Amino acid sequence: MQTIAFNPSFDRYNTLSDAECEERIRAARAKLGKKAVLLCHHYQRADVYQHADLTGDSLKLSRLAAQAESDYIVFCGVHFMAEVADIMSKPNQIAILPDLAAGCSMADMANLAKVTRAWRELGEVLGEDPANQVTPVTYINSAADLKAFCGERGGIVCTSSNARTIAEWAFARRPKVLFFPDQHLGRWTGHQLGMPLIDMVVWDPDLEYGGLTPEQIKNAKILLWKGHCSVHQMFQKSHIDAFRAKHPEGIVIAHPECNFEVCAASDHVGSTEHIVKTIKEAPKGTRWLVGTELNLVERLAREVAPDDKIVQFMATTICMCSTMQRIDPQHLAWTLENLVEGKVVNRISVPAHEAELARLALDRMLAVS
Ligand code: 13P
Ligand code: SF4
Repeated sequence: MQTIAFNPSFDRYNTLSDAECEERIRAARAKLGKKAVLLCHHYQRADVYQHADLTGDSLKLSRLAAQAESDYIVFCGVHFMAEVADIMSKPNQIAILPDLAAGCSMADMANLAKVTRAWRELGEVLGEDPANQVTPVTYINSAADLKAFCGERGGIVCTSSNARTIAEWAFARRPKVLFFPDQHLGRWTGHQLGMPLIDMVVWDPDLEYGGLTPEQIKNAKILLWKGHCSVHQMFQKSHIDAFRAKHPEGIVIAHPECNFEVCAASDHVGSTEHIVKTIKEAPKGTRWLVGTELNLVERLAREVAPDDKIVQFMATTICMCSTMQRIDPQHLAWTLENLVEGKVVNRISVPAHEAELARLALDRMLAVS
């Protein structure tokens, strides 16, 4: 099997119409049969999502990747998700991301050099005292080397759907948590555990000692990495206030990557899978305001419209996950037609030692959640 990172022949696909791509994707999938499975995140654009074998949030997709039997796992999502698929799948399986530029801007807000420095500085301030030890917890939206960092230090991975359980696991072991890279998920999770906001401090990775005094570090229970999602930061409490003023009977649901004020003002907070399930199972005729990515919200609005449910997007401006959007019908057709010819393009392959340590942290998460 030939593996290539960049196939210049992609240029040919750039000029194909979406309709041509759709036809070619279907034909390639028919030829590949059970050799390839298409996993799709809920934010994937409709013209790609329609081809999914299996869909889900990050937790569900990591389990599905671990259970997959096909030779190829074609991941329509972002880079860290395809890395998890590679780590969790069997050694003979191949994980593929149709466009390598599909990253996650939040995941990029933490890197190994900065996290290693934070860990060292925390160690300097907190010393060996057992009453001051820290568990590193990384959100699944992070590079594989950060998952490995956690695996090696008794830490763990969490997703938006299990963060509370994972935080309980961490606090049962050590009294403090370093949570990266999403400060908002970390803060909301601490709040769910009943922790006052004052016990959580923001660690700015671009400043020495996170910009904190030794006292602040010693007093904190959760050190929140200064990272966020560029999509979810667009949602504001004023959007919820305006909706409630107009539709007092309306229900508000938000993803925990939204800021604290938005989560606190919402009726429900949960992962993308939770949002989809909650609205699909809601009584007919209900009205919803949803704080998460636009592709998911628009698809859900279409799907529940026959039940007279109204689903509204929380922000007044368009905010999509522009990186996930890069997985388009052209890249999918290119990827699949290459597989039909026996060529693997855009393989995601985590180095063996890193994968082994990252898997430790992921397995801990799956065992607890
Ligand atoms: P979910 O795990 O809830 O699907 O979230 C992933 C994500 O990146 C949300 O922005
Ligand atoms: Fe990353 Fe935000 Fe896109 Fe989710 S929506 S994949 S956190 S950039």
